[in-house]
Amino acid sequence: MERTKFLLDESQLPRRWYNIRADMPSAPQPVLHPGTGEPVGPDDLAPLFPMELILQEVSEEPEIPIPEEILDIYTLWRPTPLYRARRLEQAAGTRSRIFYKYEGVSPPGSHKPNTAVAQAFYNKKEGRSRLSTETGAGQWGSALAFACKLIGLECKVYMVRISYDQKPFRRSMIQTWGAEIVASPSEDTQCGRAILEEFPETPGSLGIAISEAVEDAAGREDTSYSLGSVLNHVLLHQTIIGQEALAQMEMAGAFPDVVIGCVGGGSNFAGLAFPFLREKIAGREIDVLACEPAACPTLTRGLYAYDFGDTSKLTPLVPMHTLGHDFVPAPIHAGGLRYHGVAPLISQLVNDDLIRAEAYLQGDVFAAAVLFAGSEGIIPAPESAHAIHGALEAARKADEAGEQQTILFNLSGHGHFDMAAYDNYFAGKLEDVALDEEEIERALRAIQGLPVPV
Ligand SMILES: Cc1ncc(COP(=O)(O)O)c(C=O)c1O
Repeated sequence: MERTKFLLDESQLPRRWYNIRADMPSAPQPVLHPGTGEPVGPDDLAPLFPMELILQEVSEEPEIPIPEEILDIYTLWRPTPLYRARRLEQAAGTRSRIFYKYEGVSPPGSHKPNTAVAQAFYNKKEGRSRLSTETGAGQWGSALAFACKLIGLECKVYMVRISYDQKPFRRSMIQTWGAEIVASPSEDTQCGRAILEEFPETPGSLGIAISEAVEDAAGREDTSYSLGSVLNHVLLHQTIIGQEALAQMEMAGAFPDVVIGCVGGGSNFAGLAFPFLREKIAGREIDVLACEPAACPTLTRGLYAYDFGDTSKLTPLVPMHTLGHDFVPAPIHAGGLRYHGVAPLISQLVNDDLIRAEAYLQGDVFAAAVLFAGSEGIIPAPESAHAIHGALEAARKADEAGEQQTILFNLSGHGHFDMAAYDNYFAGKLEDVALDEEEIERALRAIQGLPVPV
């Protein structure tokens, strides 16, 4: 009988995170202070983050040890399984081999607690007692609520309005883990009130929710801000995924030709891909593919520029592919992919041709999700389904070229709280939203006059 799952023992849990900054062929551009235009230093970030995370943000060390306390919590769900998707291969009729790493086995149901636990740990260690954050789909908010509960911190979550309405049970989960939650934009912050006054019907966006969470943390001594993606230290914490996958692919006697992940801010993609990119930078041939929604095509159609990470311009200026900080993506059902920017590390690696990107329509993505559920059994999160569609497309292209490839993708989470989206898909109510060029041009006017990366 052929093997389906490749499992590591707890004793094989990687004990270090991998820092790709040490190996990148071009150094990433610095993050800038919007007032001075100068690179941001550790002291500028100290009101928002604990020093240990700030040092990880700028570290050039190739590997950073994972504290025992974090490893101990990771063992609640890690190492996560790697599957050979034999039934999906059959259903798709491909000659290629498809593997996936499944992060949905964590208590909140996605990869997000890999960094939530680490962030809560360092904040607690440095004496903070409360964290504020934003959440899109609710996966990040529930992961941080879970981590704060286990580590003993208070937590306040600003949840994008559209997801707050579409996903009442993500809300309940966040409350079950003891966090406070409010729909964003909210009346609880100055920027929330200003946006509500101008756009009372807004579905919200991650950019707006980030503004509210940053304002909350900046105004309180006891509170740090916590971000679920984009930043270097967040991507760093996720690299445990790819390191496990490297060992599991070896168990399977295989190495991927293609490594695939969906991209919102970029953390699950980076988590799987960066340890494989280490091999690619060292000379191995691997195609590394980032999958994004056509409704929010940051990497495929955005500009590489300095931009704010949030709508109200409270964050430093970040060098990244962006659609403009006031861009509000259409309310597609992959809420976690509705972000105007992407991680600077990923942007730089795209510029250096080490990563390529594709954008998909949500109808195609849900068709892939249903095919996957019907063959592998797991009902995927709509975000993760972008990676499934990417894998199926890669397999189809290999078949057409008469090749057999080994394809590995990250199944970043399950979709048990996304069934309303599946209902809409079955009822034929999902709209295929592709952005027109005029809207991109309009949104990008918001970054005119900002510094330009060299
Ligand atoms: C299951 C899942 N996958 C992917 C993402 C996208 O985030 P990132 O690009 O940081 O992995 C999210 C975000 O909420 C998510 O919930």
